[in-house]
Amino acid sequence: MSEKLIQSAIRASENAYVPYSHYRVGAALLTADGVIYTGCNVENASYPATICAERTALVKAVSEGVKEFDMLVVATPTGGSPCGVCRQALYEFAPDLHIIMVDFTGKIYHEAKLRDLLPLGFGGSHLDEAKGK
Ligand code: THU
Repeated sequence: MSEKLIQSAIRASENAYVPYSHYRVGAALLTADGVIYTGCNVENASYPATICAERTALVKAVSEGVKEFDMLVVATPTGGSPCGVCRQALYEFAPDLHIIMVDFTGKIYHEAKLRDLLPLGFGGSHLDEAKGK
């Protein structure tokens, strides 16, 4: 399955809209039901409006009613890792997500659990505590 996800992420990067950074990113998110949602980065002339590939894939899935995820592959030119915003966005749904980072040849640079990439991520228990639960 991870090879299929790797190829899906690489293919998704082809749709990246990157007129500003020219840095293409593709993501492939595997649901607990074995379905793959892909995403690419979509940039904007107002730079902060840019959405990363990982969050594109996540939002596509959640907007279809899917909230359980097992694995994510991120494909970049350099085998780069997901940004902090994406880590936190993914942590909301899948703190135990397995993440694989590859370049466009499919070479694996890193493999890690989201929990280890985002120690002490902000989540439900913090909110429960604040609400006195
Ligand atoms: N980018 C992603 O798509 N995912 C990340 O986790 C890191 C950064 C995108 C945002 C922007 O379009 C480009 O990479 C350069 O920062």
